[in-house]
Amino acid sequence: MHRILALSGSLRRDSFNTRLLRAAERLAPPDLTWDFFEGLADVPVYDEDIDTDPPVPAVARLREAVAAADGLVIATPEYNHAIPGVVKNAVDWLSRPHGRGALAGKGIVVWVATLGRMNGLRCLGDTRGLLSGLGNLVVPEPEVVVASAPSALTTAPDGTVVLTDAVTVDLIRAQLRVLADVLEAQAPRALWQAVERQRPDIERARFLPYVRQALGDGAAPEVVAERLRSAGHRPETVRKWIEEARAEAGPRGRSPQAGRP
Ligand SMILES: Cc1cc2nc3c(=O)[nH]c(=O)nc-3n(C[C@H](O)[C@H](O)[C@H](O)COP(=O)(O)O)c2cc1C
Repeated sequence: MHRILALSGSLRRDSFNTRLLRAAERLAPPDLTWDFFEGLADVPVYDEDIDTDPPVPAVARLREAVAAADGLVIATPEYNHAIPGVVKNAVDWLSRPHGRGALAGKGIVVWVATLGRMNGLRCLGDTRGLLSGLGNLVVPEPEVVVASAPSALTTAPDGTVVLTDAVTVDLIRAQLRVLADVLEAQAPRALWQAVERQRPDIERARFLPYVRQALGDGAAPEVVAERLRSAGHRPETVRKWIEEARAEAGPRGRSPQAGRP
């Protein structure tokens, strides 16, 4: 059994994307258990000043729900040919603390439901790219955009949402089967663990140049350390980078890389 968290990128009560997730639950293979996250409206706009430890309750709920899931199924509207702020905001919260965010190593499927007939693909591609970039395994095929949503998603007299397009039904069934297989193979976790093994080298390569530059420009080591710690880096790692940059700079305290014309 693999735990799926279904997330709608629309807060609207009668959202087609939320309804798509409801309809798709019945298309999922039996080895996927399906939970809905309904707290996105309470998640504040991302602000580093309120990204505290412990986190604010709405963020804690979101992070816990995602951490507990093996995979995510996201259905989102496209707004102005882009990812809606609600989705991007949730991803920003889930990407922190730096390198330790809950949104990594998941198997993910993304869909877009739209009123239009031709739109949705930009948001789909951008959302998939965003989630892959955080270290998740996003199921690449098929691309599912539910166009003309009011006729594609109807409601039966008993309130059940029905996906009327037989091709989309088949595509979603197949895609959820791929997700289940990928989770069974533990492929998303293996991907992330491989990245994690290289994490110290990746972080050093990315941030040591900043430390060299800042110290070379005369910034106090405590100020540089505090900036990196508040961006989510571990204190012992920051200390190592500062020691390394200072050792390179030699007794005059000036980095060989900094300050050159
Ligand atoms: C601010 C805004 C921008 C929109 N931009 C797009 C767009 O770029 N592409 C598109 O296909 N639909 C666009 N739409 C229409 C949405 O497809 C439509 O509102 C859809 O029902 C939203 O999904 P929901 O029903 O899940 O809330 C936009 C809607 C809003 C409110």
